[in-house]
Amino acid sequence: MNNRKLTLALNKGRILRETLPLLARAGIEPLEDMSASRKLVFPTTRDDVQLVVMRGVDVPVYVRHGAADLGIVGKDTLLEQGADGIYEPLDLGIAPCRLMTAAPLGFTAPQRRLRVATKFVNVARNYFARQGVQVELIKLYGAMELAPTMDLADMIVDIVDTGNTLRANGMEPLEEIARVTSRLIVNKASMRSQHGAINRLIEAVERAVAAESQAA
Ligand code: PRP
Repeated sequence: MNNRKLTLALNKGRILRETLPLLARAGIEPLEDMSASRKLVFPTTRDDVQLVVMRGVDVPVYVRHGAADLGIVGKDTLLEQGADGIYEPLDLGIAPCRLMTAAPLGFTAPQRRLRVATKFVNVARNYFARQGVQVELIKLYGAMELAPTMDLADMIVDIVDTGNTLRANGMEPLEEIARVTSRLIVNKASMRSQHGAINRLIEAVERAVAAESQAA
């Protein structure tokens, strides 16, 4: 298994757009324009590295199972899914945002059990347990801001970046649960079997992160 091609799983969308310049600085560039292609697997300028692109929630799944050796994904997704079988050696500092509770403007806690809509049910469960607040969690897969408007929930737990989405829906951020940036993750078994190649890749990306922050 030594010296086989390393597979790096990337989160499509905003994280991908911020990841590609960083990878280019680290000497890894896809051989074709990923944004203009419907392909999901991309060879790179390095024969020994290929990129695969998918939804963020699937990145840790591929890495955990060793179908991808490495991945780049938001800390929010890692907090939600846990770190079984995964190392998280590097904070890339990209795609910064916050995991927060949010509610309609002027929110007051109801007399009954609080209903919280989120796709981050594990994060939310842990957070409210730490606060000693009993909640009913309602799992959604997107557009969480709709839930209070439609009286599905009293509050949401979601990613807040600019706050525009909350404002546009008559809501405000309340408590910060976690600060989020994208992380480089590695399959634990790959780390053992491909130690040298993976360490060199991590170091190259680490230097790119340092160079990027100096340039900023
Ligand atoms: C996230 C999040 C909010 C929005 C917050 O959604 O769920 O809807 O971004 O950003 P803002 O504070 O700058 O308005 P995203 O666009 O990542 O899509 P998603 O619905 O798939 O999570």
